[in-house]
Amino acid sequence: MKKQNFSRRKFITTLSAGSAAVAASAYMPSFGNISVVTGNPDKLAILGGTPVAKDKVWPEWPYVDERVVEEVVKTTRSGIWCRIQSPTGTVTTFENEFAKIYGTNTSVSTGSGTQALNTAVEALGIGPGDEIITSPYTDPGTIQSILVSRALPVMADLDTESFQLDPAEVEKKITSRTKAIMPVHIMGQPCDMQSIMAIAKKHNLKVIEDSCQAFLAEYQGKLLGTIGDVGCFSFQTSKVFCCGEGGALVSHNDELMDKCYTVMNHGTAKNGKTLTIGSKYRMNEFEGAVLLGQLPGVKERHEIRNRNAKYLTEKLKGCPGLIPQKLYEGTTAGSFYLYTWSYKKEHFNNAPRDKFFKALAAEGISLSPYIANGLHREPWTDHIQTLTEYKKLFGNARLKKFQEELHLPKCDQVCDEMVMLWASGPLLGSLADMDDLINAIMKVYDNRDKLNSI
Ligand SMILES: Cc1ncc(COP(=O)(O)O)c(C=O)c1O
Repeated sequence: MKKQNFSRRKFITTLSAGSAAVAASAYMPSFGNISVVTGNPDKLAILGGTPVAKDKVWPEWPYVDERVVEEVVKTTRSGIWCRIQSPTGTVTTFENEFAKIYGTNTSVSTGSGTQALNTAVEALGIGPGDEIITSPYTDPGTIQSILVSRALPVMADLDTESFQLDPAEVEKKITSRTKAIMPVHIMGQPCDMQSIMAIAKKHNLKVIEDSCQAFLAEYQGKLLGTIGDVGCFSFQTSKVFCCGEGGALVSHNDELMDKCYTVMNHGTAKNGKTLTIGSKYRMNEFEGAVLLGQLPGVKERHEIRNRNAKYLTEKLKGCPGLIPQKLYEGTTAGSFYLYTWSYKKEHFNNAPRDKFFKALAAEGISLSPYIANGLHREPWTDHIQTLTEYKKLFGNARLKKFQEELHLPKCDQVCDEMVMLWASGPLLGSLADMDDLINAIMKVYDNRDKLNSI
């Protein structure tokens, strides 16, 4: 294969001052006067060369500092472990702080992102016999939040460049039963919300933003989660703001937020009346304590991730084989929970993606394929066909059509090409850390003619 005009040597000449430390490591032979070079840094580590980043240690995740520990200890000692024990406990305090960040009057916390999404579905009065259009390229929680209310998650295909729901595909899936769109801001970056909101308005649909990955991400100057009717967040351990398991909802609609509180609180409103159907989705005080402990510095960490993401994108933009996730115009900030690329094997000597991962891992850099397949390929789609309740609610003809429409080739392509960095911790690294990542990728790219032999 003809070499592209993009190589590690070229990259090295553009290294930032912040990454000067890398110049002393063993894998940069083009700095001819460096005496510490040992082994064979140009040869792939998997073939016996010197690894780019041997024993690489990224910033740890989840984020823990003394404040986090102190908050948990304080809560342990206080004996206030459940939110209803105190109106000024960690959970209520956290909800107030979260609402302040989001510029809303209130927020409602839950025990997980899935619970937050289901709370939104229930509070909007969506249930048996209704349909919600969402993405197949997401966590199972997205789909389950719809199924537990006995509604039908109808999946639309993706934009292969942004990995987000394609608004045109969403519009094609609208039926007389459709009540809402649940866009998923995948990887923590915004969907094309302008188009999605326009479709929702045209068809009188609610919008539940699955912002579980998108804490602090912004589109057209608005925080994700505040653009649709309601936004839902996850604080599961891997997320950029986390407490093990946890979730929250925000909305500018105070009446809806009251309903969300009631649904979250086993159907019992703030005035103590048990009004409606609702499971018990309360966040506990220890989770609130961890979140309060993590809150200081959360915006600074968000900015570091954005800075590093920009740096990676800029430095790797000449690499034709790795295309970074497309950010829609109007993306003012990403969350960068995950930093992702599409792997174009034709630019890697047709080497399968697995070989690219293997070669990189030997260089000390671990990247992942993320979700193996879209949720349209999981067995739940067959399972609901067998359920009497779904047959009664939707009828055989609708379920048959649902099954027939599970052909989502663009989602399949995204799954096949995905290359992902778990970014919550790693993107908090220094520019030198980013250079390690870039150098490893470039070394593998430079050696692409050897990939098929590993
Ligand atoms: C896009 C998306 N939606 C929903 C969820 C569900 O959140 P949780 O795991 O907190 O229930 C997640 C969590 O990974 C997610 O990434």
